[in-house]
Amino acid sequence: MKRGTGIAPHHVAIIMDGNGRWAQQRGRPRLFGHQAGARRLREIVRVCPDLGVKYLTIFAFSTENWKRTQIEIAGLMTLFRRYITLETKALVREGVRVRFIGDRIRLDEKLVWLMDELELMTADNSRVHLTIALNYGGRDEVARATRRLAQEVRANRLNPDTVNEETFAHYLDTYFLPDPDLVIRTSGEARISNFLLWQSAYAEYEFIDTLWPDFTKEVFTEIVTGYSGRERRFGAVTA
Ligand code: FPP
Repeated sequence: MKRGTGIAPHHVAIIMDGNGRWAQQRGRPRLFGHQAGARRLREIVRVCPDLGVKYLTIFAFSTENWKRTQIEIAGLMTLFRRYITLETKALVREGVRVRFIGDRIRLDEKLVWLMDELELMTADNSRVHLTIALNYGGRDEVARATRRLAQEVRANRLNPDTVNEETFAHYLDTYFLPDPDLVIRTSGEARISNFLLWQSAYAEYEFIDTLWPDFTKEVFTEIVTGYSGRERRFGAVTA
């Protein structure tokens, strides 16, 4: 028999997939779908406190997304800049702390400046922790973490014999986050696509057919409520 924890997932991570198909179904350019997706994100962030979700991490742009057309990439970067510019005030007011994970090296200067500014402006907030993965890839993150760790060893600041899971996690982009309890992917694909590989070792997964722009707060609420009824054992056996 399943015994639910009865508690909401503390940390939910979402792979927001299906914007392109949503736009295509309407005979519109892909960017139209991304814009609708950005509006949906706003709605989902706002409902988190009511559901007891303290941490929300979303996959906005992957290290693989650079393979898309120049037009789509430029459109997405403009959308990220606009989202930050237009949303900062509301995010500050609503107690959302925003942080970014991923490699900033390939992102344009103006966008990185806005990201830094938003992190700074929301640094005192703690009602909801929104983490946006931008130019993020799980393998890339592990490689970058390993590089930093190796540099510490070379500089004699770290004894390699002391490296364990906990010390390694400290070098990941997500050092400030608890592991996700629940990972949701929209649009019917049952893949994790290089998202939070290390961190999701014990997460529950939910793959749903809904395209991201149709992912309403009601759909989110249903999934979060469903999670509370599941049992998590972390590899242990329950009596
Ligand atoms: C995947 O859909 C979506 C993305 C690659 C971009 C996600 C971005 C947003 C939802 C915009 C809002 C985000 C922020 C931070 C403002 P897809 O294009 O792969 O869809 P498809 O599989 O149907 O082609």
